[in-house]
Amino acid sequence: MKQNQNYLLSHTVALIGLMGAGKTTLGRYFARSLSVDFIDSDDEIVKRAGISIPDIFELSGEEKFRDIEQRVIADILEGSPVILSTGGGAFISPKIRDILSNKSVTIWLRAEPETLLSRMDDLHSRPLLAKGDPLLTLTNLSDERKRYYEQADVIIDTDNLSATQALRELVSALQERDVLRLENTVQKEL
Ligand code: S3P
Repeated sequence: MKQNQNYLLSHTVALIGLMGAGKTTLGRYFARSLSVDFIDSDDEIVKRAGISIPDIFELSGEEKFRDIEQRVIADILEGSPVILSTGGGAFISPKIRDILSNKSVTIWLRAEPETLLSRMDDLHSRPLLAKGDPLLTLTNLSDERKRYYEQADVIIDTDNLSATQALRELVSALQERDVLRLENTVQKEL
């Protein structure tokens, strides 16, 4: 007989925060480390629209993007619990904030604008940073959005944290809320 330990999520864990916060990179790492599923809402939007995010913004505008984003996130939250990386603006929309707050545990990955910028390798995939000074834009977005992100269930300050330290904070916050449980399974050895 072989004892296996698996993590079980009782709810979806939604990572929120500005572009460059590490929602996708850390989200994938968290999911891999805990052997749970991962979904990136931006990837799902691209799949659904059949075109890139910059193209959605350019051809149909931000409002259309937010509309697709809302439907995609609502659909994801109807499914089994996953680690969900959301786009930086998702939690700003009152409707999306409402469904995320009701149906998931929200985690704000907070970081200073300088840190955010230093973590981003591809500014072209982010239409909001395509024009002007990206650091100034991130600083303004940070000032505007802070009051919404602050409503998250858990806040993790990531400026000086390694991925492993951030994972440790996430695990203890989720265990405290009974969202992450360790399950022992017994497997017959052949
Ligand atoms: C946006 C963030 C992007 C993407 C879109 C809009 C925002 O996602 O959804 O470009 O409003 O902050 P990331 O935060 O994953 O880069």
